[in-house]
Amino acid sequence: MPSRGRRLPDSAVPTWLGADSGWSSAAGRGEGVCAVAADGSALVLLEGVNKSFGDHHVLHDIDLAVQPGEVVVVIGPSGSGKSTLCRCINRLETIESGTIAIDGVPLPAEGKELARLRADVGMVFQSFNLFAHKSVLDNITLGPLKARGTSRAEAERRARELLDRVGLADKADAMPAQLSGGQQQRVAIARALAMDPKVLLFDEPTSALDPEMINEVLEVMTGLARDGMTMVVVTHEMGFARSAAQRVVFMADGRIVEVASPADFFTRPQSDRAKDFLSKILSH
Ligand SMILES: Nc1ncnc2c1ncn2[C@@H]1O[C@H](COP(=O)(O)OP(=O)(O)OP(=O)(O)O)[C@@H](O)[C@H]1O
Ligand SMILES: [Mg+2]
Repeated sequence: MPSRGRRLPDSAVPTWLGADSGWSSAAGRGEGVCAVAADGSALVLLEGVNKSFGDHHVLHDIDLAVQPGEVVVVIGPSGSGKSTLCRCINRLETIESGTIAIDGVPLPAEGKELARLRADVGMVFQSFNLFAHKSVLDNITLGPLKARGTSRAEAERRARELLDRVGLADKADAMPAQLSGGQQQRVAIARALAMDPKVLLFDEPTSALDPEMINEVLEVMTGLARDGMTMVVVTHEMGFARSAAQRVVFMADGRIVEVASPADFFTRPQSDRAKDFLSKILSH
């Protein structure tokens, strides 16, 4: 049994998840929305997180709990803090106040323990970020070899298994430049999975792709969601949100403004900011 996050007061549990969702509730929608699991078993737990760049306050009092196996889609206007939120969860950015805990363990500021905890959080970026001078196989085995101390034979066995899972079994020896954008992004997903993360963060994973390659990446992500991977996904792909996400978190101006099921969010947004945002993206 994996260890579980610490229990939070029941009063912190949201109302909009419904009685049959495994969650119970006591809070409402609106600013300072707190989304916390009923049994306190959050895999990712943010409480009162604030982040500034200089005097620019970018994240305001963010409270968010992501349950094991849950898929949360984060959506919102440009500059609302979505990438910063992901980068804080992965500790690529430090925070000024509040806590971020992964599987019940607060992220330390630095040191070996941080490196270990960070390895529990995989991240897939818009721009793939593969090592151009390394083969696909080497890109995937690098993390397990260096950070996990896995043997080369085991790392390669697992890498080939993951390549098969993302539909690229025949590309192990290719160099990234020989692959399409969609294929590179699927390698990036395999690379993240190779670390056996507890949670995967995706920051607009399909935004840099030609339209015909978006689906192949979304299909891999949908498969991961179906298999129970805990995922936080920044995306404007509403089809994915509807089919794979349990919740949509809508951010604006560095705040979580609204949290709802995809069906509710896309058909009955509550806040003016969300209505305005949706009217703009739906009109395209
Ligand atoms: N390294 C940085 N230094 C200074 N300001 C930053 C930095 N990174 C982000 N910001 C600022 O923080 C705010 C939030 O940025 P962030 O990239 O998180 O937004 P976003 O919601 O991901 O936007 P987009 O949809 O365009 O990707 C923006 O005003 C941005 O200019
Ligand atoms: Mg961003």
